Amino acid sequence: MADVQQIIKDVTVVYGKERKALMPILQAVVKTKNYLDDQDLISIAKALDLSAAEVFGTASFYTFLDTVPRGKNVIRVCKTISCHMAGKDEIIHAIEDTLKVKTGQTSVDGKFTLLSANCLGWCHKGPVMLINDKVFPELTAEKAIEILQKYQEED
Ligand code: FES
Repeated sequence: MADVQQIIKDVTVVYGKERKALMPILQAVVKTKNYLDDQDLISIAKALDLSAAEVFGTASFYTFLDTVPRGKNVIRVCKTISCHMAGKDEIIHAIEDTLKVKTGQTSVDGKFTLLSANCLGWCHKGPVMLINDKVFPELTAEKAIEILQKYQEED
């Protein structure tokens, strides 16, 4: 909680206690704690004098603003047309098999959450996935598994 109050304070110094501070606050909270919980959203609404519904609506509209706890590494596989045509299904199956999760789930060890995402802006190099904010273009199933193994070896 203290962190969220501090973030609100820091961001409103720059943007003022106005609607335009909402996205920067939401993004900063997700960056710090990996997700937004109800209490955070209510605190933000109060601080900016917005309705809780507006803040909840904004947070849930943007899939990058997680409102449930996520794994340490958040994998987002692009599901949009170019990546779909380039074989994103094969990538998703390889990841699901390797991590023993379904899309939308977090692995039992809490290390990975697998999500699908809309176009990531790398359409010419699909299929593409993001792990946290790192982009992995031109994937094959083998490449995706290799990348995941590297992350699995970390700590
Ligand atoms: S369609 Fe996948 S990055 Fe654009």
